[in-house]
Amino acid sequence: MRRKVIAGNWKMNMLPNEAIKFIEEFAPLVKDTKAEVILCVPYIDLFYALLNAQETNIKIGAQNMHFEESGAYTGEVSGKMLKSIGVEYVIIGHSERRQYFAETDETVNKKIKAAFEYGLKPIVCVGENLEQREKGVTEEIITKQTELALDGLSKDQVKNTIIAYEPIWAIGTGKTATSEDANNSVKAIREKIAKLYGKEVAEEVIIQYGGSVKSSNAAELFSTSDIDGGLVGGASLKPEEFAKIVNYDK
Ligand code: PGA
Repeated sequence: MRRKVIAGNWKMNMLPNEAIKFIEEFAPLVKDTKAEVILCVPYIDLFYALLNAQETNIKIGAQNMHFEESGAYTGEVSGKMLKSIGVEYVIIGHSERRQYFAETDETVNKKIKAAFEYGLKPIVCVGENLEQREKGVTEEIITKQTELALDGLSKDQVKNTIIAYEPIWAIGTGKTATSEDANNSVKAIREKIAKLYGKEVAEEVIIQYGGSVKSSNAAELFSTSDIDGGLVGGASLKPEEFAKIVNYDK
């Protein structure tokens, strides 16, 4: 049985003092969960979040990184830098980065490779937009994105990659894919991985769903055959609400 991994993506929200307060309130609420709990926080919160999550079961992730180790890249942060302060996870290729910051399948692939090089675990986002969904090419789009993202990785690396299936039309809109639809898309990604890297790898890889996950729909989504947890945006900003999502099975 695969474990459940539930990650919060705070996006560009929460000041350090808010992050500290959040963790204080949130940690006791999720201390008994069997799921892996991750908070992906803005760069400026990382250090505070790491310190305050130390004695808890909460893991800390970043929301992006550069693929180079160091150099003349003003404003960027490398995987080596993230690792140096104890960050464990990093979101790569979120649709907002693809849409607003010129992230491509190629840079996503480079960043995943760099994440592994520096000992970080990538959470890689794929997902179709509304137009693609209406055209009926969802499966084609998300399996291709997955293939390009994972290109050149070893089987072991693929096993340790978390994939987040996030239909773009469901992000921040309050619209969620039905659990059946979301599960079918996740299954298609898993089948693609089986074709490329073998059944054993595909059975192990964690594939999350993201897009308007909230406490009222988490149980249904996370109880399907193939969805292994979620990447949660808006609903991860409130400790009680996010804890309810983490404790979806209680
Ligand atoms: P949302 O965001 O939960 O606010 O829809 C999810 C995400 O973008 O990861």
